[in-house]
Amino acid sequence: MSESTDSAVPADQTGGQPGEVAEAGPADRIAAGYAFTGPALDLGALLWDGRCLPDRQIRIPLAMLNRHGLVAGATGTGKTKTLQLIAEQLSAGGVPVFLADIKGDISGISAPGTANDRIGERAHDVAQSWEPTGYPCEFYSLGGIGPGIPVRSTVTGFGPVLLSKVLQLNQTQEQSLGLIFHYADTKGLELIDLKDLRAVVAFLVSDQGKSELKGIGGLSTVTAGVTCGR
Ligand SMILES: Nc1ncnc2c1ncn2[C@@H]1O[C@H](COP(=O)(O)OP(=O)(O)O)[C@@H](O)[C@H]1O
Ligand SMILES: [Mg+2]
Repeated sequence: MSESTDSAVPADQTGGQPGEVAEAGPADRIAAGYAFTGPALDLGALLWDGRCLPDRQIRIPLAMLNRHGLVAGATGTGKTKTLQLIAEQLSAGGVPVFLADIKGDISGISAPGTANDRIGERAHDVAQSWEPTGYPCEFYSLGGIGPGIPVRSTVTGFGPVLLSKVLQLNQTQEQSLGLIFHYADTKGLELIDLKDLRAVVAFLVSDQGKSELKGIGGLSTVTAGVTCGR
Protein backbone atom coordinates (compact mmCIF):
# COMPACT_ATOMS: atom_id res chain seq x y z
CA MET A 1 0.00 0.00 0.00
CA SER A 2 1.33 3.43 -0.79
CA GLU A 3 0.94 6.57 1.28
CA SER A 4 -2.16 8.71 1.21
CA THR A 5 -2.03 12.09 -0.42
CA ASP A 6 -3.04 14.10 2.65
CA SER A 7 -1.23 17.32 1.87
CA ALA A 8 -3.13 17.85 -1.39
CA VAL A 9 -6.50 17.59 0.34
CA PRO A 10 -8.28 20.43 2.14
CA ALA A 11 -8.71 19.66 5.83
CA ASP A 12 -12.51 19.71 5.50
CA GLN A 13 -12.34 16.71 3.16
CA THR A 14 -10.20 14.46 5.33
CA GLY A 15 -13.01 13.26 7.54
CA GLY A 16 -11.68 15.38 10.41
CA GLN A 17 -13.19 18.60 11.74
CA PRO A 18 -13.28 21.69 9.48
CA GLY A 19 -10.16 23.77 10.01
CA GLU A 20 -8.23 20.82 11.41
CA VAL A 21 -4.87 20.52 9.71
CA ALA A 22 -3.67 17.44 7.95
CA GLU A 23 -3.67 14.78 10.67
CA ALA A 24 -4.88 11.66 8.91
CA GLY A 25 -8.58 11.18 9.67
CA PRO A 26 -10.54 7.97 9.07
CA ALA A 27 -11.34 9.02 5.49
CA ASP A 28 -7.63 9.41 4.80
CA ARG A 29 -6.86 6.05 6.27
CA ILE A 30 -9.56 4.43 4.13
CA ALA A 31 -8.32 6.28 1.05
CA ALA A 32 -4.74 5.22 1.76
CA GLY A 33 -5.85 1.62 1.31
CA TYR A 34 -6.89 2.42 -2.26
CA ALA A 35 -3.76 4.32 -3.25
CA PHE A 36 -2.27 1.59 -5.43
CA THR A 37 -1.19 1.95 -9.03
CA GLY A 38 -1.79 -0.29 -12.05
CA PRO A 39 -4.98 -1.41 -13.79
CA ALA A 40 -8.02 -1.23 -11.51
CA LEU A 41 -11.80 -1.16 -11.55
CA ASP A 42 -13.28 2.20 -10.57
CA LEU A 43 -16.26 1.78 -8.30
CA GLY A 44 -16.84 5.37 -7.21
CA ALA A 45 -15.80 7.77 -4.49
CA LEU A 46 -15.72 7.44 -0.72
CA LEU A 47 -18.89 8.56 1.01
CA TRP A 48 -17.97 9.93 4.44
CA ASP A 49 -20.26 11.69 6.90
CA GLY A 50 -22.91 11.93 4.18
CA ARG A 51 -20.54 13.61 1.76
CA CYS A 52 -18.99 12.30 -1.40
CA LEU A 53 -15.21 12.80 -1.52
CA PRO A 54 -14.30 12.74 -5.22
CA ASP A 55 -10.56 12.71 -4.56
CA ARG A 56 -11.01 9.57 -2.47
CA GLN A 57 -11.63 7.03 -5.22
CA ILE A 58 -12.70 3.49 -4.36
CA ARG A 59 -11.06 0.98 -6.66
CA ILE A 60 -10.21 -2.71 -6.95
CA PRO A 61 -6.93 -3.76 -8.58
CA LEU A 62 -7.68 -6.01 -11.57
CA ALA A 63 -5.15 -8.54 -10.27
CA MET A 64 -7.26 -9.03 -7.10
CA LEU A 65 -10.36 -10.10 -9.01
CA ASN A 66 -9.44 -13.79 -8.92
CA ARG A 67 -9.92 -13.79 -5.14
CA HIS A 68 -13.07 -14.20 -3.11
CA GLY A 69 -15.08 -11.11 -2.32
CA LEU A 70 -18.15 -10.03 -0.44
CA VAL A 71 -20.40 -7.10 -1.29
CA ALA A 72 -22.54 -6.45 1.77
CA GLY A 73 -25.04 -3.80 2.77
CA ALA A 74 -28.70 -3.15 3.57
CA THR A 75 -31.28 -3.06 0.78
CA GLY A 76 -30.80 -0.04 -1.46
CA THR A 77 -27.18 0.62 -0.52
CA GLY A 78 -25.85 -0.22 -4.01
CA LYS A 79 -24.81 -3.91 -3.94
CA THR A 80 -26.39 -4.70 -7.31
CA LYS A 81 -24.99 -1.54 -8.88
CA THR A 82 -21.54 -2.47 -7.57
CA LEU A 83 -21.79 -5.93 -9.17
CA GLN A 84 -22.84 -4.30 -12.43
CA LEU A 85 -19.84 -1.96 -12.30
CA ILE A 86 -17.48 -4.87 -11.66
CA ALA A 87 -18.97 -6.96 -14.50
CA GLU A 88 -19.01 -4.04 -16.95
CA GLN A 89 -15.45 -3.01 -16.32
CA LEU A 90 -14.16 -6.59 -16.48
CA SER A 91 -15.99 -6.96 -19.79
CA ALA A 92 -14.46 -3.71 -21.06
CA GLY A 93 -11.06 -5.05 -19.96
CA GLY A 94 -11.57 -8.18 -22.07
CA VAL A 95 -12.30 -10.51 -19.14
CA PRO A 96 -15.37 -12.72 -19.69
CA VAL A 97 -17.73 -12.74 -16.71
CA PHE A 98 -20.04 -15.60 -15.73
CA LEU A 99 -22.84 -14.26 -13.56
CA ALA A 100 -25.54 -16.32 -11.84
CA ASP A 101 -28.22 -13.65 -12.00
CA ILE A 102 -30.98 -15.39 -10.06
CA LYS A 103 -33.17 -12.28 -9.67
CA GLY A 104 -32.44 -10.95 -13.15
CA ASP A 105 -31.38 -7.54 -11.85
CA ILE A 106 -27.84 -7.56 -13.25
CA SER A 107 -28.87 -8.34 -16.83
CA GLY A 108 -29.69 -4.68 -17.51
CA ILE A 109 -26.02 -4.11 -18.35
CA SER A 110 -26.80 -5.57 -21.78
CA ALA A 111 -28.61 -2.36 -22.78
CA PRO A 112 -27.33 1.23 -22.62
CA GLY A 113 -28.92 3.32 -19.87
CA THR A 114 -30.73 6.60 -20.40
CA ALA A 115 -29.04 9.78 -19.30
CA ASN A 116 -30.83 12.03 -16.83
CA ASP A 117 -29.95 14.93 -14.52
CA ARG A 118 -29.54 12.73 -11.45
CA ILE A 119 -27.03 10.49 -13.17
CA GLY A 120 -25.12 13.51 -14.47
CA GLU A 121 -25.03 15.02 -10.99
CA ARG A 122 -23.92 11.78 -9.44
CA ALA A 123 -21.17 11.26 -12.02
CA HIS A 124 -19.95 14.77 -11.22
CA ASP A 125 -20.03 14.08 -7.46
CA VAL A 126 -17.83 11.00 -7.82
CA ALA A 127 -15.63 12.63 -10.50
CA GLN A 128 -16.52 10.12 -13.18
CA SER A 129 -17.69 10.62 -16.72
CA TRP A 130 -20.81 8.68 -17.64
CA GLU A 131 -21.83 7.52 -21.08
CA PRO A 132 -24.73 5.16 -21.75
CA THR A 133 -23.11 1.85 -22.74
CA GLY A 134 -24.47 -1.65 -23.28
CA TYR A 135 -22.14 -4.59 -22.75
CA PRO A 136 -22.14 -7.81 -24.81
CA CYS A 137 -24.19 -10.45 -22.99
CA GLU A 138 -25.28 -14.01 -23.66
CA PHE A 139 -28.11 -15.44 -21.62
CA TYR A 140 -28.29 -19.05 -20.52
CA SER A 141 -31.13 -20.80 -18.79
CA LEU A 142 -30.91 -23.86 -16.61
CA GLY A 143 -32.80 -26.91 -17.89
CA GLY A 144 -34.19 -24.92 -20.81
CA ILE A 145 -36.57 -22.88 -18.62
CA GLY A 146 -36.83 -19.26 -19.74
CA PRO A 147 -35.65 -17.38 -22.81
CA GLY A 148 -31.86 -18.04 -22.68
CA ILE A 149 -29.76 -20.68 -24.38
CA PRO A 150 -30.70 -23.90 -22.57
CA VAL A 151 -27.91 -25.37 -20.47
CA ARG A 152 -28.27 -29.11 -20.12
CA SER A 153 -26.04 -31.84 -18.81
CA THR A 154 -26.22 -35.62 -18.74
CA VAL A 155 -26.36 -37.30 -15.34
CA THR A 156 -22.93 -38.82 -16.08
CA GLY A 157 -21.55 -35.37 -16.93
CA PHE A 158 -23.09 -33.85 -13.81
CA GLY A 159 -21.29 -36.43 -11.68
CA PRO A 160 -22.11 -37.98 -8.30
CA VAL A 161 -20.67 -35.21 -6.10
CA LEU A 162 -22.68 -32.36 -7.59
CA LEU A 163 -25.79 -34.52 -7.90
CA SER A 164 -25.51 -35.45 -4.20
CA LYS A 165 -25.44 -31.76 -3.29
CA VAL A 166 -28.49 -31.02 -5.43
CA LEU A 167 -30.36 -33.98 -3.96
CA GLN A 168 -29.16 -33.05 -0.45
CA LEU A 169 -27.93 -36.57 0.21
CA ASN A 170 -26.18 -37.44 3.46
CA GLN A 171 -22.61 -38.70 3.46
CA THR A 172 -23.56 -42.40 3.31
CA GLN A 173 -25.95 -41.78 0.43
CA GLU A 174 -23.36 -39.66 -1.36
CA GLN A 175 -20.80 -42.45 -1.13
CA SER A 176 -23.41 -44.92 -2.39
CA LEU A 177 -24.20 -42.69 -5.33
CA GLY A 178 -20.49 -42.58 -6.11
CA LEU A 179 -20.42 -46.38 -6.14
CA ILE A 180 -23.46 -46.53 -8.41
CA PHE A 181 -21.82 -44.11 -10.87
CA HIS A 182 -18.64 -46.18 -10.71
CA TYR A 183 -20.62 -49.36 -11.40
CA ALA A 184 -22.37 -47.75 -14.40
CA ASP A 185 -19.01 -46.55 -15.64
CA THR A 186 -17.34 -49.97 -15.45
CA LYS A 187 -20.33 -51.51 -17.27
CA GLY A 188 -20.14 -48.85 -19.97
CA LEU A 189 -23.64 -47.56 -19.16
CA GLU A 190 -24.01 -43.88 -19.97
CA LEU A 191 -26.47 -42.18 -17.66
CA ILE A 192 -28.20 -39.65 -19.86
CA ASP A 193 -30.99 -38.61 -17.55
CA LEU A 194 -32.39 -39.43 -14.10
CA LYS A 195 -34.50 -42.20 -15.63
CA ASP A 196 -31.27 -44.02 -16.56
CA LEU A 197 -29.87 -43.59 -13.06
CA ARG A 198 -33.09 -44.91 -11.53
CA ALA A 199 -33.00 -47.91 -13.86
CA VAL A 200 -29.48 -48.84 -12.75
CA VAL A 201 -30.40 -48.52 -9.06
CA ALA A 202 -33.64 -50.45 -9.60
CA PHE A 203 -31.63 -53.23 -11.26
CA LEU A 204 -29.07 -53.32 -8.44
CA VAL A 205 -31.74 -53.73 -5.77
CA SER A 206 -33.75 -56.28 -7.76
CA ASP A 207 -33.42 -60.05 -7.23
CA GLN A 208 -31.62 -60.22 -10.54
CA GLY A 209 -29.09 -57.54 -9.66
CA LYS A 210 -28.43 -58.46 -6.03
CA SER A 211 -25.23 -60.36 -6.78
CA GLU A 212 -23.90 -57.33 -8.70
CA LEU A 213 -24.80 -55.13 -5.75
CA LYS A 214 -22.76 -57.38 -3.46
CA GLY A 215 -19.78 -56.78 -5.74
CA ILE A 216 -19.97 -53.01 -5.14
CA GLY A 217 -18.28 -52.53 -1.78
CA GLY A 218 -20.27 -51.01 1.04
CA LEU A 219 -23.56 -50.35 -0.75
CA SER A 220 -26.66 -51.67 1.02
CA THR A 221 -29.97 -52.37 -0.65
CA VAL A 222 -31.67 -49.91 1.69
CA THR A 223 -29.30 -47.04 0.91
CA ALA A 224 -29.47 -47.73 -2.81
CA GLY A 225 -33.26 -47.78 -2.59
CA VAL A 226 -33.43 -44.54 -0.61
CA THR A 227 -31.03 -42.83 -3.02
CA CYS A 228 -33.19 -43.98 -5.90
CA GLY A 229 -36.28 -42.57 -4.16
CA ARG A 230 -34.86 -39.05 -4.34
N1 LIG B 1 -22.86 4.65 -6.41
C1 LIG B 1 -24.13 5.05 -6.52
N2 LIG B 1 -24.43 6.35 -6.67
C2 LIG B 1 -25.70 6.76 -6.78
N3 LIG B 1 -26.76 5.96 -6.75
C3 LIG B 1 -26.53 4.66 -6.62
C4 LIG B 1 -25.20 4.12 -6.48
N4 LIG B 1 -25.30 2.79 -6.34
C5 LIG B 1 -26.61 2.51 -6.40
N5 LIG B 1 -27.34 3.62 -6.54
C6 LIG B 1 -28.81 3.70 -6.65
O1 LIG B 1 -29.34 3.24 -5.43
C7 LIG B 1 -30.46 2.41 -5.66
C8 LIG B 1 -30.24 1.05 -5.02
O2 LIG B 1 -29.09 0.44 -5.60
P1 LIG B 1 -28.97 -1.13 -5.72
O3 LIG B 1 -27.63 -1.41 -6.33
O4 LIG B 1 -30.16 -1.70 -6.41
O5 LIG B 1 -28.96 -1.54 -4.18
P2 LIG B 1 -29.01 -2.99 -3.50
O6 LIG B 1 -28.69 -4.02 -4.53
O7 LIG B 1 -27.96 -2.91 -2.42
O8 LIG B 1 -30.38 -3.14 -2.91
C9 LIG B 1 -30.63 2.32 -7.17
O9 LIG B 1 -31.62 3.22 -7.58
C10 LIG B 1 -29.30 2.73 -7.71
O10 LIG B 1 -29.41 3.33 -8.98
MG1 LIG C 1 -29.83 -5.64 -5.21
